[in-house]
Amino acid sequence: MVEISTSILTVERENASKTFYDLEVAGTDYFHIDVMDGKFVEKNTEEMMYEYANTIKQISNIPIDVHLMVEDIMGNINRYIPLEPAIITFHYEACKSDEEVINYIKYLKLNNIKAAISIKPNTSVETIKKFLPIIHMALIMTVEPGKGGQKLIPETLKKVKELKEYVEKNNLDTYIEVDGGVNKDTINMAKEAGADIAVVGSAIISADDFKQAIKELR
Ligand code: DX5
Ligand code: ZN
Repeated sequence: MVEISTSILTVERENASKTFYDLEVAGTDYFHIDVMDGKFVEKNTEEMMYEYANTIKQISNIPIDVHLMVEDIMGNINRYIPLEPAIITFHYEACKSDEEVINYIKYLKLNNIKAAISIKPNTSVETIKKFLPIIHMALIMTVEPGKGGQKLIPETLKKVKELKEYVEKNNLDTYIEVDGGVNKDTINMAKEAGADIAVVGSAIISADDFKQAIKELR
């Protein structure tokens, strides 16, 4: 079964609380928080996402899945620790050395947060293999990070498959998350490739009926 992590990137401010409530009722497994800093990616969603994550923390017990598309990883980890997210994902491409990567993993674990690493479409699975035994999850970007509503890049699913085979062959328990362009037409390919969690933004948020949208995805 593929779990659904709903990206709230395109939720409008006016009815945000009601939208989060409706998403919980509709059965989302996680709330996916897309933190963008205007440097690692063009857009800046830092303030809005922090505000949304705070609202969610106040009204819901659904686990929070934070995706940091930022250069200042430590600053953002520290900002989110009080909100007790279940998972924080940071980008391999935003790190200068393997040592830096390992430091974030250790720091997250020390704070009882599951550590995850993400790679962009042009970064190979090979680069993160060495971290797999010590992380909870790998997030394979299925679009270029930066905005919602893009088309899934089919080649990225080859990476999901490669990762899945590696995880199984080495008896690891690393989860695989896919993010970008997942909808009812593409989720099966992602599942067959080996995804355990699918991030879904526009396919849920722009639907009239969240419950129906999530049911169709499942
Ligand atoms: C892209 C974000 C995604 C994305 C998901 O940079 O990480 O979470 O917005 O949205 P959809 O499902 O619309 O591609
Ligand atoms: Zn994301």
